[in-house]
Amino acid sequence: MDFKQVVSHAKEYGFIFQSSEIYDTLAAVYDYGPNGVELKNNIKEYWWKSMVQRHENIVGIDAAIFMHPKTWKASGHVDAFNDPLIDNKDSKKRYRADVLVEEYADKLEAKAEKEIAKAAKRFGDSFDRDQYVTTNDRVKRYLGERDTILKRLADDMKKGDLEDMKALIEELNIACPESGSRNWTDVRQFNLMFSTQLGNIAGEEGKLYLRPETAQGIFVNFLNVQKTSRQKIPFGIAQIGKAFRNEIVARQFIFRMREFEQMEMQYFVRPGEEMEWYEYWKDMRLKWHKALGTPAEKLRFHDHDNLAHYANAAVDIQFDFPFGFRELEGIHSRTDFDLSSHQELSGRKIQYYDPALEKNYVPFVVETSIGCDRMFLAIISNSLMEETVPDASGKDSTRTVMKINPAIAPIKCAILPLVKNKPELTEKATKIFDDLKFEIQCQYDEKDAIGRRYRRQDAIGTPFCVTVDFDTLTDDSVTIRDRDTLEQERIPINGLKSILQEKTSMSALLQSIG
Ligand code: GAP
Repeated sequence: MDFKQVVSHAKEYGFIFQSSEIYDTLAAVYDYGPNGVELKNNIKEYWWKSMVQRHENIVGIDAAIFMHPKTWKASGHVDAFNDPLIDNKDSKKRYRADVLVEEYADKLEAKAEKEIAKAAKRFGDSFDRDQYVTTNDRVKRYLGERDTILKRLADDMKKGDLEDMKALIEELNIACPESGSRNWTDVRQFNLMFSTQLGNIAGEEGKLYLRPETAQGIFVNFLNVQKTSRQKIPFGIAQIGKAFRNEIVARQFIFRMREFEQMEMQYFVRPGEEMEWYEYWKDMRLKWHKALGTPAEKLRFHDHDNLAHYANAAVDIQFDFPFGFRELEGIHSRTDFDLSSHQELSGRKIQYYDPALEKNYVPFVVETSIGCDRMFLAIISNSLMEETVPDASGKDSTRTVMKINPAIAPIKCAILPLVKNKPELTEKATKIFDDLKFEIQCQYDEKDAIGRRYRRQDAIGTPFCVTVDFDTLTDDSVTIRDRDTLEQERIPINGLKSILQEKTSMSALLQSIG
C-alpha cells in the first residue's frame, strides 16, 4: 500500500489521529486512538520484556521529563543539538538545508532505480543487477553524482560549514518545493530543544528544557541504579519515555514528530570492550526486528557518515518505509562522553570500581535507541496490504488486511455471534467474551453481517475470529478463523483459551529472538 493509504487507514480504523483536529491540528503532533494505543503498548511490552526481563543484567527506570538545566549543557545538547536551517524568502517556508540536499540525492537514486527496473524487465531472468549498476553509463552517472553530493554534505555537516551548504543548494539549483523560487536566505543553526520556564525563578536561571532524548535520565542516575541494583559491569539500564524535538521538517506522519516516545537502553562496559558490545547489540537488535516477521530485505544497517558529538561508532537500522529506507533505530558507541561530562560539571565522582581489575573507571556506553512511533509506522506500513480472497459465495473479492504478528496485534480475538437478534447466541458469545477478556485482548462484535465483521477485524489486524453459531448451543464448540490462511476450524469452547494463548503468545515471540 502506498503511504497515503497507510495514513488514511490509520485514521479510519482508530490507530492515529492528528492532534487537536477540531482546531485545524498541531503539526507533527499525533494522538493514538483505541487500536493505536493497544498496538503501541504491545510494541513497548515486546521491547521491555526483550531488554529487561530477558537479561538479568539489564534493569529499568522511569526518569522525569524535566531535568536540571545543567544536564543539557553537560550532554552537549545546548551547544550542539542543532539542525541547519534555510528559509525561502518568497514563500517564507523554512526547511532543513541538509534535507533539501538529501531529497535531491534521493531523486538521483530514484532515476537510477527506474533505469535498473527498465533493464530488469528487458533482460528478464538473465538480468544481473550488480553488473548493470557497475557498467551502465547513465546509472553510473546518477549514482556517482548522488555519492559526490552526499559526501560533500557530510563534510559540511561535520565541519559546520553552513556557507558551503548554501553554495551546494545553489549549485544544484534546488527550488523551494512550495513556490518553486530559488531565493534563499543564508543557512543557520537552529537548536532543537523546546524550553519552558519554572514558575518561581525568573530569567535564564529558571529555564528548563523538555528532554530531547531519554538517555540523560539514565546517565545522571547511573550511580543510584548501580548501587541499588548491585549490578556489575557489563550491565544495562533501560527506559521508555517521551522525548521532544522542535523539528523543522514536520512531514511524513509519525516518522518525524515534535513529541514522541523513545525506547532506549544504555549498556555500561569496560573501556576498550565497547566495540565488542557494539557488534553484539547490532546483532541482537536486528534479530529483535526479524523475529516479528519483518522481511530481511526491508531492514539494513547504515553506518553514520556523520558521528554525533558523543560517539566513536554509530549505525542505524534502516527500514524500507513507503518513502524509502530511513532510520528506524540507532546503535551508538557513546564512549565515556556523557558520564565524564556529568562528572566534570556536577563535581561528583561518577565511577565504577571493577573488582576484577581492582580499579576505578568511568564506564563506556553502548546505546540502543529506537523510536516507538517509528516502530509503529514500520509495523503498520509493512503489514497493511490488499489481497484478493474468496468471499462467502466463493467469488473473488478484495480485502484490506493488516498481517501483524499475533503477539502484538491490538486485538487478539474477536467474538462474533452469527446473528445479533438471537439472545441464545449473543448470551453464549458474551459469556465466552467474559471468560477470555482478562487474559486475552478480545472484542465483542454483533453488528452487521458476519462477512463484514470479518473484514473489519482483518483491517485492524485481529489474528483470530471466533464465531458462535446455532451448533454451538448443542455441541459447545465454536469456529475459529485464521486471519492469514482464512482457514476455519471447529474447536470445543473449553479449549479456546489455551489455543488463543498459545497462538498469540508474547513469550514464544521473545524466545524466537534466539
Ligand atoms: N539517545 C540517542 C538518540 O536520541 P537519535 O538517533 O537522535 O538518538 C533515536 O534518536 C531514535 O529516536 C531514532 O532512531 C528514531 O527512531 C527516534 N526519533 C528521533 N527523532 C524522532 C522524531 N522527531 N520523531 C519520531 N521519532 C524520532
